[in-house]
This record gives sequence, C-alpha cells and structure tokens, in this order.
Amino acid sequence: MCGIVGYIGSGNVYEILIKGLHRLEYRGYDSAGIALVSPSGKLNVFKAKGKVENLESFCADKNLEASVGIAHTRWATHGEPSDVNAHPHFSEDGNLALVHNGTIENYKVLKDALMEHGCTFHSETDTEVLVQLIEFIKLKNDCELVDAVMEALKQVVGAYAIAVIEKNNPDTIIAARQSSPLVIGIGEDETFLASDATPFVEYTKDAVYLKDGEIAVIKRGEPLKLFNLDNSESKIDVKTLEMSISQLEKGGYPHFMLKEIFEQPSTLRDCIRGRVVEGGRKINITGVNDNKERFLNAKRIVIVACGTSWHAGLIGKYLIQSMCRIPVEVEYASEFRYSDPVLDKDDIVIAISQSGETADTLAAVKIARSMGAFVFGISNAVGSSIPRETDSGCYIHVGPEIGVASTKAFTGQVMVLTLLSLAVAQLKGTLEHEKIAEIGKHILKIPTLVERVLKLNNRIERLSLIYTYAHNFLYLGRGYSYPVALEGALKLKEISYIHAEGYPAAEMKHGPIALIDAEMPSVIIAPRDHLYEKIVSNVQQVKARGGSIIAIVTEGDSVIRNIADHVLDIPEMPECLTPIISTIPLQLLSYYIAINKGKNVDMPRNLAKSVTVE
Ligand code: G6P
Repeated sequence: MCGIVGYIGSGNVYEILIKGLHRLEYRGYDSAGIALVSPSGKLNVFKAKGKVENLESFCADKNLEASVGIAHTRWATHGEPSDVNAHPHFSEDGNLALVHNGTIENYKVLKDALMEHGCTFHSETDTEVLVQLIEFIKLKNDCELVDAVMEALKQVVGAYAIAVIEKNNPDTIIAARQSSPLVIGIGEDETFLASDATPFVEYTKDAVYLKDGEIAVIKRGEPLKLFNLDNSESKIDVKTLEMSISQLEKGGYPHFMLKEIFEQPSTLRDCIRGRVVEGGRKINITGVNDNKERFLNAKRIVIVACGTSWHAGLIGKYLIQSMCRIPVEVEYASEFRYSDPVLDKDDIVIAISQSGETADTLAAVKIARSMGAFVFGISNAVGSSIPRETDSGCYIHVGPEIGVASTKAFTGQVMVLTLLSLAVAQLKGTLEHEKIAEIGKHILKIPTLVERVLKLNNRIERLSLIYTYAHNFLYLGRGYSYPVALEGALKLKEISYIHAEGYPAAEMKHGPIALIDAEMPSVIIAPRDHLYEKIVSNVQQVKARGGSIIAIVTEGDSVIRNIADHVLDIPEMPECLTPIISTIPLQLLSYYIAINKGKNVDMPRNLAKSVTVE
C-alpha cells in the first residue's frame, strides 16, 4: 500500500525517483508526487492524480534541478484520490515535505490539538497531520529535524514508513519505520531509500532493512546512522540483495502477469531446487529439519493468510491433514487477529504471504508468537517483515512478482506447502516411503508438466473470446480443486471486473444453482481424482440447467468431454499435485478475458499488491 522512494547523491534525482516510482507502482496508483530540494535550498513539490505517467507529464515543463528528493505513489486510505490528497505533504510554512506509507490511527486527536495551536490543513489525509506535527515540534523546541521526527513519532499511534526532507537542507533525508516496510540502499557516494529494494537494485546490492521503531539519518558524504526512538544508536546490518534487474522487466511480454504465468516452469524449478533429493525419495525443508520436535509434537496447525495466499493455505489444509494427520484450520489473518484466538505452545501457526508485509498477516504472526505458538512463515520477499518476525520459515523463491494478480507466487506457495507436508510426513512416518518417493518423483517433473499446460495458451486465448461478455461466472471444484476454483474466480474478478464466485461443487445445489442459465458460464475443475465420479454428477447438474461449461480435465477423460462445452486437458499426476497444474489454465483464461475487455491487467482498479493497512 503506497510506495515511497528517496535519493541523495550526485545522480539525476528526478529520474532516479520516477524510475523508482514505476517499480513501486504495484503498491498503489491512485496518485503520485515528488518533492525536490535544489542545491540552493528551494523546495519544489509536484503531484498528480492517477498513475506515475501523469506525474511525469505534469513535471515535463518544470524545473527539476535537485540534490535530494523523495517521492510517493499512493493507494488511498484517508481521503479520495486527488491532487490535494497526493503525497508529498508539506508543513504549513512550506519548510518540510514528507511521504508516508501506512496509517496514523490517532490522527484526529493530533489534528485537533494542532488546529488549536492555529495550524490549518489542506488535505483530508492523516499524513499531513504528521508533517505539521514535526514542524510544530521543530519550531517549538528549535531543534534539528531528526529530533523533531523522533519526538513526533513518540506521539503517533499507527503504522508508518516515512521520509522527510527540509528546505535549505539539500544534504539530509530523515526516514523511519513502524510496521510498514522501508529499506535503504547504500551506494558509492549515494543513498537510496524505498518501500522495497526494486528502485535501487541496479545501483547497489547493499541494503539495510529498517526495523520497527528505527529512525535513519541519511546525510550526504556521511555514513548512514540508525537510531531508536529513545535516541540510542542502532546497529547497521547490511544485507546483499539477490534480486536482478531482468526480474523487474517485462522481458518481451506485453504484461508482467503474462510473463509471470509463463515463468512458472522456471520459478517452480527454483522453488524445488535442493529440496527434493535422491530422485524424489527425500524431501529437505530446512525449517522443518531444524524444528523436528515442534513438528513431531504439533497438536494442531493454524494457517493465516489473506487473498490468494489464503487460497494456497486452504490447499495446505488438505495436504497437511492427509499426509501428516495433523488437524488444520485456515483463517483469514484479518479475522484471526480479532477473533480472540485460542493457541498454545503445541500449536504451529503457518503465516503465508507473498510480500511478507501484509499488515493483517503480520499482526496475526505477532499475536500467535505472543501466545507461545511456534510460527512458521512462507514468503517470497527475502528480508521482509514476516520472515523476520517468525520463528522459522521457508521462502518460495519465485522472484519478484510485479503483476497485482498473483500467479507464480500462488503456485510457489502451494509447492512449498506440498514439500512441507511431505517433509513432516517423512518425519512422523505418516506416509510410506514408497508414497513419498512416488510424489517426489512427480514433483521433479512438475516444471515440465507446467510447460506442457502452457501450450494451451492459444486455445485459451480463442476460448476467452466466447466468454468475454459474460456478466457472471461460477467456478466449481471439490477436494483439492475447491481452493483452485476460489483462486480462479478471484483472478477473473480482480482483473476483468466480472463477478465470479468460487464454490465447492456439491454446495452449489444449496444456492448458486439457482443462478445457472445460458448466460452464466461455469468453470469446473474436474481432474481424475477420488472425487471424480461426484464431480461428474455436478457437471451434469449444471448442464441440465442449460449452463455452459468449461472443464479442466485429466488427459484421456472421455466422460466430461461429452458433457462440457469446452475441455482443457491437464496431464495425469498424483491428486495432491493437481492444484499447481489445474490453476494455470485459469490464470490464462482470466488474463485473456481482461485483455479482451481492454483492462489494465497489471494494475487493476482499486487494488494494490501489498496491503500494508488494515
Ligand atoms: C493483495 C494482493 C493479492 C495478495 C494479497 C495477500 O490483495 O493483491 O494478490 O494475494 O494481497 O498478499 P500477500 O503478500 O500477503 O500474499
């Protein structure tokens, strides 16, 4: 939610910041803005509603000379998307400019107090309150900017990653973090800061991830300094980035989403690498190996996640229960955190988050740890908050995911959950060696099988033309295919804005069947598994009501082929591995329907990739 970027150095400040904003645009695109301090100490702030490209057009004829600058791309929380609510916000006397990602919960109290002291406000944002408060303290105490920021943050309740610059001070940026991500890139004679490392990966690989409660003092020509809110100095831990610039570009594809769908053979290969050994007979998950007792003694597993990650969690429930015989509950992190959860030390909480920054999932992690549960994180973003806050975990290693609609991260998450289930089953002896070896052998083939399924691309593109103008879709599946149905429906609605419902196929009889007519297509995920006969009946029930059917079936299927209007074949494989494969045609279907409708698939309206607010 919102992306912030800052730069101090001898490079072209404006260009570095704009390029950085484009990289962070996945975090929000309601408005964008930039604040620049010129070498002579003049502060210029430019803002525009909408995407970063609007800001660029707005800035085209402006004086962009600068020594230091900060910039922001917004996902609106307080106040509608507009020029006036866009960041950076500045203090009443125009001396300070500030960008902010997060929410200030007590902004109303602070605002009222500042208004009593004669402050006037121009926007509806919580951020303006913060910058006015900093300026108020600075004037009142006649202190340095860093001291005023520290003092102001002690009064703030909420989540923030901020960067502040000052007129007449072309040599300093002050930044701080509490519950919203912020990373500093240390180059040669230049320093960057951003919500994630993507804006500066081509300039430096040295990154410092700020911790909660830390304040960074970035001064030209001086080493970075970190302080805590009590003014004590904090240790600097420089990490080396593994990301490469090619991972952040479209590489010849028209959209990141399509690139990421087609990357799945290689991302799954990376995800599996070193974890499935001895030809599939042994599964190695370090986080399980290092915590054997925890997994052996686990009485219950609770999975917490949001969005697509929650769908992966549902598949995790089927995997863990059937392979490890441990009861599993799957909770939306946003509900879990306020549900007065009951946890004890024998429980394991698995938090799944692609970004590692989702505010609700992070809060659920903190609650679970405070209650003594062992918390295991499954994430994609190395160095992000959730892996740092959990007891142990496992990365999915699928590379940066830029398209807002999650694709390769989903299959990576399901793959890690599969490997984790096998590793625990191996440890507990709840699956026979031969069974593990059989599944392990198939896992090694998954990247090749995904390549085969991707060959459906042209057929799916043609098929999408038939269904582009449907107003409603039903996605149905049973067992492992039920969460796949939910994920397929989510993909369609988030990028094409078509209403779609995912449903357990048998439950359809208790409501959604009333909706079925010739206008409402059903996408039915029906691979040959132990529920196959059951889903055949559900397919017939839809057909009997005149609904049209697109079915995902196992190669060689002849029964559903004769009932459905269209079938898409996936290769035969063990039932527990089908979700990774059957989800791929659904990703392509939603992509092409959205493209036919002329939608921006990488930046769908109202959405953001990383939801760092409640
Ligand atoms: C947002 C994104 C989704 C994602 C969800 C959870 O809604 O648009 O694609 O699944 O957040 O994000 P996480 O990073 O925690 O997996």
